[in-house]
Amino acid sequence: MMEMQLWHPLSRDDHLAEAPLALTLLGRSLVLWRDASGQPVLMRDQCPHRGAQLSMGRVQGDSIECPYHGWRFDPQGACVGTPAVPGFKPPASHRACAYQVMERHGLLWGTLGDAVTEAPVLRGLAERRLVYGPFDVAVAAPRVVENFLDTAHFAYVHRGWLGETSHAEVPDHEVTHTADGRPLIERYKAWQPRATAAAAEGGWVTYRYEVLSPYCALLTKQPDDGSPGDSFTMWTSPLDAESCRVWMGQYTADTSTTEEQLREFQLTIFGQDKPVLESQRPKRLPISGGEVHSAADRLSAAYRRYLKNSGVTCGVC
Ligand code: FES
Ligand code: FE
Repeated sequence: MMEMQLWHPLSRDDHLAEAPLALTLLGRSLVLWRDASGQPVLMRDQCPHRGAQLSMGRVQGDSIECPYHGWRFDPQGACVGTPAVPGFKPPASHRACAYQVMERHGLLWGTLGDAVTEAPVLRGLAERRLVYGPFDVAVAAPRVVENFLDTAHFAYVHRGWLGETSHAEVPDHEVTHTADGRPLIERYKAWQPRATAAAAEGGWVTYRYEVLSPYCALLTKQPDDGSPGDSFTMWTSPLDAESCRVWMGQYTADTSTTEEQLREFQLTIFGQDKPVLESQRPKRLPISGGEVHSAADRLSAAYRRYLKNSGVTCGVC
């Protein structure tokens, strides 16, 4: 499974406090906690002793304590205490399974493998950042990413906001690729009734789309009237093959609209997408045929080919 070698978002950095956090990634139960120095730690949520959930335990200084018999494990997973046998020096075989974890873009990211790939890198975005989520979506992560790359739905799903049926036509545009093979649209024109939280009237907007990784993408939108532009990242984390957890990052040049207004706008848009996403069958994204395309689907077709070439198996069929 190539997806084991990717970095996946797990939690907002500011949502992880002291208590252990149980989560799921690629069908595995994991626990995220912070050691005494505040460093995040990611482990399999299963004690090597009798299989109890470590996330039901508590953090004790630099170790996590299992709720069942109180065995303690350090951030590397080594067993450092067995209260029922105080003099016992636990051997290496008693260790819990620990994984790599890091902070990036306001989120904590983890990998279940050796992380042969880089986590997504962002360059040149506006400094004001907001992070939205988590949102759990009952459909495969690639379905959510494809929807993020899809413009033909604006006039229907986001009617009156990002599109209007009188402007349903997808204009001519070119899909290219980065040097490492990620699909890209440098320039896409859309007419939008309400392009941003601050927009008072409809207008033309220039979009740029970039697939960042099999489960992540970036778009930048710049209103043609010169008002402040935005970039949005779609960070999805495959909980399993048919459901995912999603965060969005917004990087905005708009310094006057309040955080509340920006959030409300974005949650409205995502709230329009979610029921349609969850209605899609199959829940996995078909990358080997089974759905039909039109000329408006060039970017999603390129994304599907990219997924196929990348070798990911989770969330596709
Ligand atoms: Fe964890 Fe026994 S199951 S200490
Ligand atoms: Fe949408």
